[in-house]
This record gives sequence, structure tokens and C-alpha cells, in this order.
Amino acid sequence: MIDLHHHFDGAFETEALYREARRRNLPQGQLSPADFAARCRVPRNCNSLTDFLAVFEFFYDIAQDLDFLRQQAQKLPERMAQTGVIYLETRFGPHLFTGERYTAAGVTEAVLEGLAEGNGSPVRLILCALRNAPTQHVQDLVDLYQKYHTRGVCGIDLAGDESKFACREYAPVFDRAHSLGVPITIHAGEASGPQSVYDALDLFHARRIGHGIRSIEDDRLVRRLADERIGLEVCLTSNLQTGNAATYREHPFRRLKAAGVRVTINTDDPSVSDIDLNDEWHTAIEQFGLTEAEHKELLQNSIEMAFCDDAMKKRLRQQVTERLG
Ligand code: ADE
Ligand code: ZN
Repeated sequence: MIDLHHHFDGAFETEALYREARRRNLPQGQLSPADFAARCRVPRNCNSLTDFLAVFEFFYDIAQDLDFLRQQAQKLPERMAQTGVIYLETRFGPHLFTGERYTAAGVTEAVLEGLAEGNGSPVRLILCALRNAPTQHVQDLVDLYQKYHTRGVCGIDLAGDESKFACREYAPVFDRAHSLGVPITIHAGEASGPQSVYDALDLFHARRIGHGIRSIEDDRLVRRLADERIGLEVCLTSNLQTGNAATYREHPFRRLKAAGVRVTINTDDPSVSDIDLNDEWHTAIEQFGLTEAEHKELLQNSIEMAFCDDAMKKRLRQQVTERLG
């Protein structure tokens, strides 16, 4: 399995967050372990991206510590190997973790150091800006990509609340990123309609779209995604939790795939959603009747869309052939 849409901060170990809150005497550490864990998860009645993202507010400040970030990064390659993930692109917004003490570069370095120290599956890092952030943050990501792409930063992204912020003012910075060859993926068509996906393609030069499921509302857009080989990073559980698909039956995964769009299966926020990539594949197989051949086809989509070099893609193709024939 391959995960191309995984938020590092949506995958923090809950016990580690709790230990850190208590170590630093933060107010969240006063809760019981069970209450603390419940606050780190999407509530049952969550029905919007806005409510989903509110969960993260509970623990951002706990994670604003370089040692904590380095340790979580260090554990990630092994956690992925144990889950059966053969390649991971994780993502996070460095500006969310600077607090009063650090720079975005310092935060990015700590995470890269941790990943490099880990043992297990290969992991690359995508840097995100939140949609309501100052344009300078997106500019910073371009600079950080240039500084760190030899150490594992493989692309940039826009995350955050698409339903509230279109962010067209970022276009000149994405023009520059594109002209420098920075791989770009954008959360779009998750909680807003087709126009947001058009903007991701035309203004932000996205090669992949995070979610993109609401593209189904526009036939011309669906054809364009297929023709231009734009990968859709589908995250099934997350789409139900954010209320952007009411049921799996109504989820457009099958219709997008049938139209020739390169769909992939990913997690989004494993700890926050309380899932792993195995759960997502089981859901896809049960709900959509995915066959073994389609399983392989989707993994090939992930390899084609990955922001890694050709040597890594070749290795991944071999691993998939060894396992699935
Ligand atoms: N950050 C974490 N998960 C996200 C999602 N599903 N959409 C936008 N931003 C996110
Ligand atoms: Zn996401």
C-alpha cells in the first residue's frame, strides 16, 4: 500500500501528545487519558470540514516542541512498515508549529532529522500552507522546498478550510513555484465545488488534487482531470466525517474511476479519524467491490502520481509486482 495523502499532525500518537501535555504542564494534561483521547478524535456528530479541522486546535500547542516533532517523525517510517505501507508522503504546515520559539525552517529541519533517523518505509515530506495564512507563508514553502528537497521535501500543498477561503491572491507565488519545478498538490473539491478544482489547476498549477471528489459535479472538469492525468487523492473515511459524502453509496469514487480519472486511496488524518490505510482499503473493497486487478491499478496510479524520483518509482513498481503479480 502507498499513502500519498497523510497529515503528519493528523497522525500524532495520542499517548505521546498526552505525555507531552503533562510534561509541559499544559491545561490539556489535566484531563483524564480517556477524555484527552476523545478530544483528539473526530466527534461522532462531525458533519463539516470546519468541525473536522477544529479537532486539530486542541493539540497544536502541545506539538509546538522540536523534540516532540523529531520523535514523532522518527517513529513514522517504522509505524508505516508495520502497517504495510511501502511508501509514504506525509504533509504538515511548519508555520503551525513555530509557536513563540521557532522558525518554519527550524521546524522543518526537526521533522526531516527525525524521518532520516527512523527505520522502516521510505517517507517524503510535503509542506502545507493553511488557506487563511498570509501569502508570505506560501512563499516560505517555496524557499523551504528549494532548501530541503535533497533531504526529503517533495512538494507543497494548500490545506485548511476551502469552504471559507478561495485564496486567489496566492496565484503569483504558485506561478513562481511552478516555474521552479516544485511539485504541487492542492486540497480542493473537498468541501467546495468544481470552481475550487479549476482554481487549483489554473491558478495554483496542481498536478494532484487532495480529495477532488466534488469534481463529479462538472462533466467537463472530470474529462479534463482524466485527459491531463491529474491524480485524485481520495480519503474515504475523512470524506464521510467532513460530510462531503453522505454515504459510501453516494461517494463518487466509482464514477470518477469509470470516467478514467486516476484515483488513489489514502488516509488523510489516521489518528484524528481513528483509522489506518488497511481500514481504507477494506472500506474500498467492501463498499465498491474493488477487484484484485483494480487494487493493482490503483497502486500503479499512486506510483505514477508520487512526487519521488524515478529510481524510487521503479523500486515501488517491483514491490507491487512481487506482491500482486
Ligand atoms: N488538514 C487536515 N485534514 C484536512 C482536510 N481533510 N482538508 C483540509 N485540510 C486538512
Ligand atoms: Zn488532507
